[in-house]
Amino acid sequence: MKLLIINGPNLDLLGKRENDIYGENTIEDINNEILRAAAELNVECEFYQSNHEGDIVDKIRDSAVEGILINPAAYTHTSVAIRDAISAKNIPVVEVHLSNIYAREEFRHKSLIAPVVAGQISGFGKDSYILGIKGLVEIIKEAGA
Ligand code: DQA
Repeated sequence: MKLLIINGPNLDLLGKRENDIYGENTIEDINNEILRAAAELNVECEFYQSNHEGDIVDKIRDSAVEGILINPAAYTHTSVAIRDAISAKNIPVVEVHLSNIYAREEFRHKSLIAPVVAGQISGFGKDSYILGIKGLVEIIKEAGA
């Protein structure tokens, strides 16, 4: 089983900016933890980070994977294009956020992505990704069962 892990804009700055909100870990630290969890679950991971909406749309469209884990970052709250790309893809997608978006500014309370994903995990820091991977693998297995 192969999964695609997508991180949206500014997540390449993790560990260097707003550490009080997003924690001390860099994106490489988080990716390494994901790889450890993925090895236990016996799944392969491809990692992709971009600050550009259209590039994320293309990546979703072009990917040949069984499932996608995505932190759309700021595009969570604005991107109809990413939502439509997910909706058109027809594979399980899980949305994750490091912070609890519902406990922050009001403009972060709305996710345009949430209605087209299998589930959303928000507020567990880097563990959001680990919980998300586990949930995603379960959903894929159940769909294939
Ligand atoms: C985020 C939450 C978003 O509102 C924000 O724009 C981000 C990160 C999170 O992981 O908590 O860049 O997706």
